[in-house]
Amino acid sequence: MKKFAKLAALLMAAAMLLSLCACGNEPEADNPYKTITPGVLTVATSPDYAPYEFYAIGADGTAELAGFDIALIKYIADYLKLELEIIPMDFDGVLLELANGSVDLGVAGISPDPDRAESMDFSDIYYEGGQAFITVKSKADMFTDLASANTPGISVGAQNGTIQMDLAQQYSPDADIVTLTKATDIIAELVSGKLDGGYVEWDVAVAYQVNYPDLHIVCEVPYEVEGNAVGVKKGNEALLEGVNKAIAACIDDGSFSQYVATALEQASGDIFEGLIEE
Ligand code: ARG
Repeated sequence: MKKFAKLAALLMAAAMLLSLCACGNEPEADNPYKTITPGVLTVATSPDYAPYEFYAIGADGTAELAGFDIALIKYIADYLKLELEIIPMDFDGVLLELANGSVDLGVAGISPDPDRAESMDFSDIYYEGGQAFITVKSKADMFTDLASANTPGISVGAQNGTIQMDLAQQYSPDADIVTLTKATDIIAELVSGKLDGGYVEWDVAVAYQVNYPDLHIVCEVPYEVEGNAVGVKKGNEALLEGVNKAIAACIDDGSFSQYVATALEQASGDIFEGLIEE
């Protein structure tokens, strides 16, 4: 009898130890979300887009990812109990990685453009924002309305792969359209006089105007799909559902409006332009 009790106790201890090991080694085993790296949420972003995502200089002088997209994605990862890995890249890279299925999510002020629906899924809209045509104050007289953005001989910039590039082609077909890799290139080239105008998201124009007071917003540009969504790797239904739940919670508990306020405040401080080369 005693022997059996001892053996049973030993077996129980061994079983407990085994289950402890299993927990320790595979924290992702009980996570219902299938991600590229189990237990990890791999996210592509393009930090050239204040107040959505940008590099802000922290109190200790180092640059860190900031913006309401970054805060939102941290909330989503926490909500889904996944570790977060953010990979910065140019915006066209975000679309490409999503289309290739090599990242779980893309968060980069993405417009849920129906043309992209073949290569990615979209979350619910988490932010409403419009489009703008911008110039610099010294050229404000050249542009009275959107029609004047279609003057032959003027140069108009838009970011590669964006819906703003579509808008440039739609509203400025007679102008010289300049494709730029980063949204911050548009701002820099406008300020240095290389460009006459540019298409960007309305709130991005407003945010960069704080640091570059020379910028001038000419007018709003009509675009049928207002607002921004998270891009989700095509076909990952469970993750899409989880992301939508997290977004709803983030908006409902007031976190998201806090993130927007913080991002606007940070964007009016020191901003690094574009990607930091590693
Ligand atoms: N909303 C636009 C689009 O989806 C532009 C987004 C650009 N984002 C960025 N982080 N540069 O095409």
